[in-house]
Amino acid sequence: MYRIIQECAEDHAEVEALYDTCFAPGREALSSYRLRDGVPPVAGLCRVARDDLDIVAGAVRFWPVRVAQAEALLLGPIAVHPTRQGEGLGALLMEEGLQAAVQARWSRVLLVGDAPYYARFGFARLDAVRMPPPTNPARVLGWGSWDGLAGAVTRWGG
Ligand SMILES: CC(C)(COP(=O)(O)OP(=O)(O)OC[C@H]1O[C@@H](n2cnc3c(N)ncnc32)[C@H](O)[C@@H]1OP(=O)(O)O)[C@@H](O)C(=O)NCCC(=O)NCCS
Repeated sequence: MYRIIQECAEDHAEVEALYDTCFAPGREALSSYRLRDGVPPVAGLCRVARDDLDIVAGAVRFWPVRVAQAEALLLGPIAVHPTRQGEGLGALLMEEGLQAAVQARWSRVLLVGDAPYYARFGFARLDAVRMPPPTNPARVLGWGSWDGLAGAVTRWGG
């Protein structure tokens, strides 16, 4: 059984360790991280999954970004510990995170990821939206209300 809780400051180091385990070394060199530099995540939306022994098994974070003049959420990183993958925890974190985003009145979310996984949550390719290069355009996916929105994704407040 897992508890999905809002991430708080005390969870930070454990979540970072999980991400280090789940992603290739140098993950912070990815261009999507340039959108996060100096910008705090949307604390109320970030979620951590802990097991019965209180060990972190998965986590998802959200950052605010801009697309043209519009506000959007950048979902990620999302990760589930390799020993816990395939149990539905990734889906649980996606659903909880998206539900929290809707409750907080965010109307659109984007991410960079594999369409075959994220399509099940309602994400589809955003042809008119550009992430900082060298992001593969086929991996830029959106959820929510994107009609008529086009342009580059830029840093919140930058
Ligand atoms: C992606 C991730 C979060 C999914 O978490 P999870 O708990 O394993 O996911 P779920 O249990 O909800 O779903 C598992 C299903 O998704 C599929 N799946 C997982 N990753 C996938 C991918 N990248 N592309 C397509 N399908 C994928 C599995 O094959 C499985 O399919 P099945 O239901 O037909 O058996 C997890 O695999 C992970 O942490 N991966 C490493 C980090 C990563 O790549 N994060 C995403 C960055 S965009």
